[in-house]
Amino acid sequence: MTTTMRVEQPLSLKDVRWVVTQAGRAPSIHNTQPWRFRWDGSAFELRADTTRGLTVSDPDGRELVLSCGAALYNLRLALSKLGYRAVVTPLPDRTEPRLLARVELAASVPADTATRLAFAALLRRHTHRGSFDDRPLAPDLAVALQRAADEEFGHLIYVHDPGQRRRVLSLARAADRELAADERVQDELARWTPAPRSSRTDGVPATAYAADPPLPVDDLAPRDFDQGRGFGRLDSDESPPGVIAVLVTDTDLELDWLNAGQALERLLVTAARHGAFAALHSQVVELPHRRAELRRELCTDGYPQIMLRFGYAADGTTTPRRPVDDIIDLT
Ligand SMILES: Cc1cc2nc3c(=O)[nH]c(=O)nc-3n(C[C@H](O)[C@H](O)[C@H](O)COP(=O)(O)O)c2cc1C
Repeated sequence: MTTTMRVEQPLSLKDVRWVVTQAGRAPSIHNTQPWRFRWDGSAFELRADTTRGLTVSDPDGRELVLSCGAALYNLRLALSKLGYRAVVTPLPDRTEPRLLARVELAASVPADTATRLAFAALLRRHTHRGSFDDRPLAPDLAVALQRAADEEFGHLIYVHDPGQRRRVLSLARAADRELAADERVQDELARWTPAPRSSRTDGVPATAYAADPPLPVDDLAPRDFDQGRGFGRLDSDESPPGVIAVLVTDTDLELDWLNAGQALERLLVTAARHGAFAALHSQVVELPHRRAELRRELCTDGYPQIMLRFGYAADGTTTPRRPVDDIIDLT
């Protein structure tokens, strides 16, 4: 059994703000950044900001909690960078459902090289929507990604078999078509895709997607953020097919969503550390019947949480984030 030495008044306010800034760099569905952090002088509390939830396409808040889980992973990594170990209590108070985690600090050793490299990768990580280099994912990295998911109670399933890949692609396309035909979903998406040169610090910016997204024959189609408005500023070119993978959890409770978010960010950071990035494709898991079909197709008892496509690429541009003062409560 490990003993935990809690740290008294460990962080300066400058450090607290720095740590929360790093947490806020996490990926989130449509860049909604649906999180709030409270520092009470000795611990952080992470809360879901449900005012930023997608009530139409994510009515249960699964993707919202997943996004918060990704921010929680970043918080933990930022604390390790400062030489602290995060002691996380997930869902600590059943009477307060929006409280997703309490994070206390334990004394630890100064950040080692692995932590410093992982933190540098956190800064490089971004959602990839352009073309991938034409080279396969290194087998060692493919295994490291699976290990990263396992460490956070998730599992990464690769879709390698050509027949299965074809069926998964056709499922994803069917989901995409259904969502594209749903006016309420499209209205919600429009609200999170501001016009070019907008000063908004949330939502998916026009620089992050193409105006005419390609419809690749042998790959997952990107989500159409542009919606025919001509907003997209990213060059659109068909990239070599990436490696398709699905992140799954054993059960499908709120705790699993929080774990899936941590697993997602851990594997994205692991990939970025090796110059690999991921395109995220969540359409197929946003429709319960398509998600159930995917589950059957993967022959898994687990629950698909998100689909990804990995490949190597140059570093990309970063997407804006809200100022730290908008996501932090200091009391
Ligand atoms: C749960 C979840 C689902 C997402 N689904 C998609 C998606 O279907 N298509 C896509 O292009 N990006 C998707 N993203 C990526 C977000 O759009 C992205 O994280 C956000 O715009 C911030 O940009 P960044 O990741 O480059 O920092 C998803 C992210 C999360 C956390």
